[in-house]
Amino acid sequence: MFETETDVLAWYEEQPRALTPEFVNNFPWHEVRAHALAPAFAPVLIYMRDVEAFTDIYYEELRRTPTGKSPVIKKFMDRWSVEEFQHAELLNRFLNEAGIPTSKRWLEEARAKIPFNYTFENRLYPIITNCFGKHFSAVHMAWGAVNEMTTLQGYRRLWQLAKHPVLEKLLRAISQEESAHTKFYWNIARLKLERSGFTRKLARTVISRFWTPVGQGTKPKREANYLIATLFKGADGVDFFDRNVNHKLEQLPGFTGLKSITQRIARIAL
Ligand SMILES: [Fe+2]
Ligand SMILES: [Fe+2]
Repeated sequence: MFETETDVLAWYEEQPRALTPEFVNNFPWHEVRAHALAPAFAPVLIYMRDVEAFTDIYYEELRRTPTGKSPVIKKFMDRWSVEEFQHAELLNRFLNEAGIPTSKRWLEEARAKIPFNYTFENRLYPIITNCFGKHFSAVHMAWGAVNEMTTLQGYRRLWQLAKHPVLEKLLRAISQEESAHTKFYWNIARLKLERSGFTRKLARTVISRFWTPVGQGTKPKREANYLIATLFKGADGVDFFDRNVNHKLEQLPGFTGLKSITQRIARIAL
């Protein structure tokens, strides 16, 4: 159990990259086509690729708030944003190797599709969060933990359902990094929430009322819903999500009994 935020950062910085240049160079890209990928998973991979690539938008938002000015968080985010962008590039390469062509300008095209109202809200967002100053950093960290957990469990479900061995190999490596991201966000959130009752109330209120699945906003809601329905379908899928995401959120100070994350998933998946 970490006692300070600096300890959490030190732990993160000790973690080796899973996606080293050797891993990428020796990856069996030539075997991707030897296995079938059900067409239903292609839009899921594209959604995941784009959301990974949009990490820098989120990073840019945070940089303008007290959260992004914290030296510990800033140091984490400098490495984190590089890792997330590489995840996007590897997913894009996987799509191509699987025979699903993507434009050379896929990133520009995906960014151009971000709705105007997102960009607009995006500009207002730091102004609102700055009103709560440092208290809001706990919200950012708890929210970040939920996003990382959702991403990680999304990848796990994808490799379990798609049954494509090369995709599984890639997603397992990406997931090692998602798991380190989760641990960072979750522990920083815990330390911040332990410090103040006001922070705990604020974080619980904001997440229960405003949380939306990772990527929704930059991507249309119907695409987020497609991903949820595909990966977490039925009672089994919702239970998997509840155990691995919502339950871990509930273990943060101030979050006991909050079920709104699972409920949002259940509305689509059941
Ligand atoms: Fe990622
Ligand atoms: Fe991540």
